[in-house]
Amino acid sequence: MEELGYFYRDTWAEVDLDCIADNVISVRKHLPKQVNIIAVVKANAYGHGDAQVAKVALEAGANYLAVAFMDEAIALRNKGINAPILVLGATRPEDAPVAAKFALTLTVFQKEWLEEALNHIKMDERISLHIKVDTGMGRIGVRTPSELSAIEQIIGKDERFHLEGIYTHFATADELDVTYFQQQLSLFEKMISGLAERPRLVHSSNSAAAIRFPGAYFNAVRIGIAMYGLTPSIEMEKEIPFPLKEAFSLRSRLVHVKKLEKGEKVSYGATYESNAEEWIGTIPIGYADGWIRKLNGQEVLVDGKRSPIVGRICMDQCMIRLPYYVPVGTTVTLIGAQKDQFLSVNEIAAKLETINYEVPCIIANRIPRLYKRGGQIVDLKNALLNN
Ligand SMILES: Cc1ncc(COP(=O)(O)O)c(C=O)c1O
Repeated sequence: MEELGYFYRDTWAEVDLDCIADNVISVRKHLPKQVNIIAVVKANAYGHGDAQVAKVALEAGANYLAVAFMDEAIALRNKGINAPILVLGATRPEDAPVAAKFALTLTVFQKEWLEEALNHIKMDERISLHIKVDTGMGRIGVRTPSELSAIEQIIGKDERFHLEGIYTHFATADELDVTYFQQQLSLFEKMISGLAERPRLVHSSNSAAAIRFPGAYFNAVRIGIAMYGLTPSIEMEKEIPFPLKEAFSLRSRLVHVKKLEKGEKVSYGATYESNAEEWIGTIPIGYADGWIRKLNGQEVLVDGKRSPIVGRICMDQCMIRLPYYVPVGTTVTLIGAQKDQFLSVNEIAAKLETINYEVPCIIANRIPRLYKRGGQIVDLKNALLNN
């Protein structure tokens, strides 16, 4: 255990890197050869582990990485990841030299940003840029051909800037109604047709569009959720032409097991009362781990049987009604497979009335991530640091 990064509480997440690799390979096969895959590993790779996922995705056929913030990109560099990294979100203009230092690609969408950044970038520094076009997401990006051309001109005039790419982001690519998607796509095509010169990379598709719409490939796609084995939306589940393999599991172990008599209570507020004689187990995971109180009543797997969480979820612990007596130390699966049962991320998302994207992201850093390859837990942390 020591060499796997020892931890003192029996709750952990397992990230199956073979699933990540297989998902990237499936996406790769689905796309024409010339289309680059930008693996989206922001937010600690949607809670799965940034460098571990990045490394496997690159080995499996991704050519580029994307994160939301420069801090995330620097963290990857510090873990030995040398592949090109695009920062999708906004960066302060005075921090542009940091991008040069770490060889990061920044997203730009304001001419004032470029003017200000030039006050900070030394003459011998070079910064790679992608222009973001807002075609209807309403988040960041240029909205008019004149804004776009002003930006293109400023970049073209200064050799400290290199325009490597241009992109947009779809708001509804995962919905069955394609009207708004088509509008965004046409607007993007119109915007890029007004460029004096096309940069090397043109991209618009997230996982949903990369799976569904060949007309939106251009020459790169940004793949996030599908790489983790999750469907972009329940609506488009049936449209996915290859299997997606869920990489994330969450497990704990019973730290206490007791028999309650009929009418005894459990947890804060004493809201749960046993109906009869019941076996109740305690697991060391709670709302401070992202296993929030709304998950009261959610089932978990014990000895391959669905067993409900009873009583209010506490900060660090919660209680479950066991199917029968099982000993302290028994593994409890909160997400993932156990025996012939499977508890999907989608099931947890439905209980939380949210999307599957949110589930692994909100599982706190307090829960260690263990990595699996070939069905075995492996120690990748040291391997990555020694890279
Ligand atoms: C700009 C941008 N591109 C791509 C992605 C990846 O999207 P998905 O996870 O749906 O593939 C995201 C994710 O939110 C994003 O914000």
